[in-house]
Amino acid sequence: MSTTNWTPICKVEDIPVLGSRRVARDQGLDVAVFRNDKDEVFALLDRCPHKGGPLSQGIVFGTSVACPLHNWTIGLCTGQAAAPDEGCTPKFSVKVEDGQVFLDAKELATQATDLVRPIAGPARRTACA
Ligand code: FES
Repeated sequence: MSTTNWTPICKVEDIPVLGSRRVARDQGLDVAVFRNDKDEVFALLDRCPHKGGPLSQGIVFGTSVACPLHNWTIGLCTGQAAAPDEGCTPKFSVKVEDGQVFLDAKELATQATDLVRPIAGPARRTACA
């Protein structure tokens, strides 16, 4: 049986209400930790399943966040995009105890470390002959 190694991240009050806080990792994109108006806390990879927008910059409502780029609605409990949109962003386990927010150290170190943010802008330049 393995026990979860909970890593303290911040206090609930350190996360803006209806906003988020980013947690940097040694490998992989940041994890966004969200707080809603009921002081519930959620954690998703900071990457929209649509085109990689930073969900941490989105607006939280209920148990969802609206992506700041094209306004997809992403469920904070599941990471799932709301229909008719399709896609899912990885979610992370969260624990809140006495106002302290914890994330699972193993998930932080290993989950979705291979996902990168798509690069915006012109395609790769090719050398002119
Ligand atoms: S990148 Fe999030 S809605 Fe398009």
